[in-house]
Amino acid sequence: MRSNNRWAVALLCSVFATVGLHAYSAKGMVTYKKLCKHCHGSGFKGSSMLTSDEWEEVFANGAKKLKRIHADDPDAKKAIDSKYFKRHYESLGKFLRNNGSDMGVVRSCDGMNCG
Ligand code: HEC
Repeated sequence: MRSNNRWAVALLCSVFATVGLHAYSAKGMVTYKKLCKHCHGSGFKGSSMLTSDEWEEVFANGAKKLKRIHADDPDAKKAIDSKYFKRHYESLGKFLRNNGSDMGVVRSCDGMNCG
């Protein structure tokens, strides 16, 4: 009985760890750190600004809405108009969608279970 439970816990942990790795290791995280972090804080803080659906919207049509949001901020505009952004915004969008504020499972795993 007890050892069965342990297996269940181990299995659950490895499932979360896999999901976590998938969401974290993405190039999008690196892109976020380069372009967004200095204004919006850590990746998980930034990604929880919006829900995954909202991120989808913001990154649609070549991140048109994201550009509009930052139209009055020259520094942010520079980051978003950069070649680097153009090359990586799709993985950035994916990272942000994967970690949107409605995707709490991964984040609580980040804080408590998966180190
Ligand atoms: C130079 C600073 C700066 C950079 C760089 C920057 N932002 Fe922003 N961002 C802002 C400011 C300022 C606002 C407006 C905040 C407000 O209106 O509350 C904002 C607003 C936003 C919003 C709207 C939040 C909401 O609640 O509706 C999103 C989404 C966003 N930024 C995402 C990003 C992403 C993704 C990146 C990286 C590609 C980025 N920002 C880079 C400064 C920046």
